[in-house]
Amino acid sequence: MSEMSIPPITDDPSDLRSRIAGWRRAGDRIALVPTMGALHAGHLALVEEAAKHGERVVVSIFVNPTQFAPHEDFDQYPRDLEGDAAKLGTIGVDLIYAPTIDAMYPTGHQTTVSVKGLTQPMEGAHRPHFFDGVTTIVSKLFIQVAPDVAVFGQKDYQQLLVIGQMTRDLDLPVEVIGLPTVREADGLALSSRNAYLSEDERRIAVELSRTLIGISDRLAGGAAFGELGEAAKARLETLGFDAPDYLDFRDAETLQAMERADRPGRLLVAARLGKTRLIDNMPVPVAV
Ligand code: PAF
Repeated sequence: MSEMSIPPITDDPSDLRSRIAGWRRAGDRIALVPTMGALHAGHLALVEEAAKHGERVVVSIFVNPTQFAPHEDFDQYPRDLEGDAAKLGTIGVDLIYAPTIDAMYPTGHQTTVSVKGLTQPMEGAHRPHFFDGVTTIVSKLFIQVAPDVAVFGQKDYQQLLVIGQMTRDLDLPVEVIGLPTVREADGLALSSRNAYLSEDERRIAVELSRTLIGISDRLAGGAAFGELGEAAKARLETLGFDAPDYLDFRDAETLQAMERADRPGRLLVAARLGKTRLIDNMPVPVAV
């Protein structure tokens, strides 16, 4: 990885390719961290992990319009390329790839990459456009950057599984690595969307992770999920959340619904607090 200074930024796919080709000729392994910018400590942890897997680290910054529905926050999504570049400069990155919308979706484009199955529940049920947008842009990034390794956060756990499935299904020679969620001291999962929260909402937001920890402990102790899940959803509503989009207990690999912790599971939640939609998830150990 290069010395610590503001990394070079390119928005040009051909420039990207020629830099990558040069690194490849030198025998360097390439690690990619795909992001939508508004970088926080969680993203920086992904970059630090990426540096362990490649001599060259590329961070892509692209607020991908196709993964937002028309009523969602594409226009409001925080954008700060200069600030992001300064943050990446503190940890050393070889290239920021920040393509334009026209470069990624030229007029007349007609192709969508779509994963079935894993995309159906939870995020897919509530944001039907979301995963096609993600898998299309991530496959384009994988083809353009041709990384050996790509690092994603487990904060978007379903997204991580979907990208892994897509990568295997398309025989893309990329190792997909998922890193545990980075949290605030009180447990709130870091997210670029936390910037939308008011002070009051910020105090309430932590209840999402506390709720998951509470349920996870009970499941690990042998309890069944059904009533726990219903009670937790009702409690989140009394605290000020809208009725959660979902609060599910699912197989950690297949995302099949689970009732008891008889194999590795995952608790996943999405709920709106004011105008902010928050998601979180946690592993559930097998009950003893
Ligand atoms: O998780 C994200 O930030 C985005 O969904 C991703 C993977 C960069 C694709 O736009």
